[in-house]
Amino acid sequence: MAAPIVDAEYLKQITKARRDLRSLIASKSCAPIMLRLAWHDAGTYDAQSKTGGPNGSIRNEEEYTHGANSGLKIAIDLCEGVKAKYPKITYADLYQLAGVVAVEVTGGPDISFVPGRKDSNVCPREGRLPDAKQGFQHLRHIFYRMGLSDKDIVALSGGHTLGKAHSERSGFDGPWTKEPQKFDNSYFVELLKGESEGLLKLPTDKTLLEDPEFRGYVELYAKDEDAFFRDYAESHKKLSELGFNPS
Ligand code: HEM
Repeated sequence: MAAPIVDAEYLKQITKARRDLRSLIASKSCAPIMLRLAWHDAGTYDAQSKTGGPNGSIRNEEEYTHGANSGLKIAIDLCEGVKAKYPKITYADLYQLAGVVAVEVTGGPDISFVPGRKDSNVCPREGRLPDAKQGFQHLRHIFYRMGLSDKDIVALSGGHTLGKAHSERSGFDGPWTKEPQKFDNSYFVELLKGESEGLLKLPTDKTLLEDPEFRGYVELYAKDEDAFFRDYAESHKKLSELGFNPS
């Protein structure tokens, strides 16, 4: 599909959609699943073949029925109301805008948002997103394929400061932090504390402590929230723009 024309009217719709998303996310307390939708649309990117990425393809049944996307139809449907009001905005832009707004309204850093992503109906094969049961080599394999770095892996894992796992969706259960609607550095503080009653740590979370390079970032982000917010905002922007060259 063609790239949208980002003219004054498009930008006006983005501003209005941003307001509507703020209110929708606050009223439905759906920041976590909106962030997860943005990440799963973007995280299929393959830098070599330049396929996948933040292109709205996750709205197709072929892709949202992938095992890793279980539950995300809820977020796709919530976005439909906003799309209907602002039809010029591509799904690709809308899902990434929802991710940026989800972080912002829960107290996280501002993330710069550049519109203009193209929609695609070409869905990537299943299996491009990370498998929570694996270790740090797998994380590197998946994120390097996107063109992301070790720092991006740890900073973005901090997205688990929001939300929870649902046993009927992923087989895992529970939140990572005591305040799952608040975006802060508590994911890293809890990770360093070790097992705690009622809080979840996926194998892919725990593995961040096993590799010295990853562990250095975990320790930094646990003690310095400003450093986490700065790096997170940068990594999230990179994730949201994989394969997209704003003109
Ligand atoms: C939830 C895996 C990275 C944001 C989940 C769940 C799993 C998972 C298994 C639970 C889903 C459910 O049962 O509802 C992973 C793995 C990652 C990863 C293996 C590899 C590093 C990320 C990244 C972000 C993110 C990079 C965003 C920057 C979220 C959020 C939720 C979530 C916000 C909560 C969703 C909700 O409350 O409904 N993730 N994730 N994750 N993930 Fe990740």
